[in-house]
Amino acid sequence: MPELIYSLAGKRVYVAGHRGMVGSAIVRRLASEGCEILTATRAEVDLRRQDQVEAWMSENRPDAVFLAAARVGGILANATYPADFLYDNLVLQANVIHAAHRANVEKLMFLGSSCIYPKFADQPIVEDSLLAGSLEPTNEWYAIAKIAGLKLCQAYRKQHGRDFISAMPTNLYGPGDNFDLGSSHVMPALIRKAHEAKINRQQEICIWGTGTPRREFLHVDDCADACLHLMKTYSAESHVNVGSGEDISILELTRLVSKIVGFKGKITRDLGKPDGTPRKLLSVDKLRTLGWSPKIGLKEGIADAYHAFLDGHCLERSNGQSDISFERAKTSALHAPTHSPVAHHPRG
Ligand SMILES: NC(=O)c1ccc[n+]([C@@H]2O[C@H](COP(=O)([O-])OP(=O)(O)OC[C@H]3O[C@@H](n4cnc5c(N)ncnc54)[C@H](OP(=O)(O)O)[C@@H]3O)[C@@H](O)[C@H]2O)c1
Repeated sequence: MPELIYSLAGKRVYVAGHRGMVGSAIVRRLASEGCEILTATRAEVDLRRQDQVEAWMSENRPDAVFLAAARVGGILANATYPADFLYDNLVLQANVIHAAHRANVEKLMFLGSSCIYPKFADQPIVEDSLLAGSLEPTNEWYAIAKIAGLKLCQAYRKQHGRDFISAMPTNLYGPGDNFDLGSSHVMPALIRKAHEAKINRQQEICIWGTGTPRREFLHVDDCADACLHLMKTYSAESHVNVGSGEDISILELTRLVSKIVGFKGKITRDLGKPDGTPRKLLSVDKLRTLGWSPKIGLKEGIADAYHAFLDGHCLERSNGQSDISFERAKTSALHAPTHSPVAHHPRG
């Protein structure tokens, strides 16, 4: 068992971005830590506004902070709004990190993402690959901001002795995910496609490209568990990858999702569409050495994500049509609901 170096029990813990996929999972996980969970909606505190962040922080005096707020989006959103992605994330994270320093916050975790690594990094990607090559241009705006965020944590540690750490999660899925086909990631898109094909009695679903690219996935509740583990047992400058350490091809994943959802038709491939990077897998050696490994298998996790999708927002009409709102599903069958009043709020 790794040594407990920071206990959350009895602490005032602020989760920035508590309505998001990761933030809400952290809130669910914190419910069993015996701490007081602090949150603020965007209407109460716009994290891009330094005055609002500093006022809230000095009034509420959290002991610990999880920084899970970010302007998040896919390739299209990055390409369309590069200034917003760079500016919002740079400013938001700088405001929270600096205000946490000024308010003497004991411990802070910054959440980044695997997009910080060079496009052609060796696989599995080790933490030391950071800044060893050029970024993937499609989301460099977001990546640059995230790299600045983790560097900011390192800088406050170096200059001010602050215990600010950073975690870099792989692709996440689960409750709270975005199921809008126009902007969703591959896992929720496949779940929704397979579900709609089943309901509409379609003969086939089509995936982009050859289906051979391999990707890694981690259930968001596992990610939250890893974040708490690091918060309690890790204190150092270097960021830590958070992943499952296993990858799967998109074709295999489509088969698995179809089976879980109950879609029995054919899977076809649109070979005119691009494949993207052949493989993206994080090295999780460091996290394992620190004593954490995932608990939710892919099958179990996808079933949970599908239930969350159905529970939250998919109303199947008696005529077999689906009526799906684009709000995010928030419930998890894997973990008991938290007593926190904020955990299951819809996005607003
Ligand atoms: N999802 C993934 O697959 C994944 C993978 C790796 C890493 N991560 C990292 O995890 C973090 C959270 O991602 P997520 O998927 O949970 O994103 P998300 O669901 O979009 O949630 C982001 C949260 O940030 C809040 N926020 C954004 N701008 C704000 C502002 N100006 N003021 C106040 N709140 C603001 C949003 O508030 P509203 O609810 O008001 O919009 C939302 O609650 C990010 O750093 C991301 O890079 C995510």
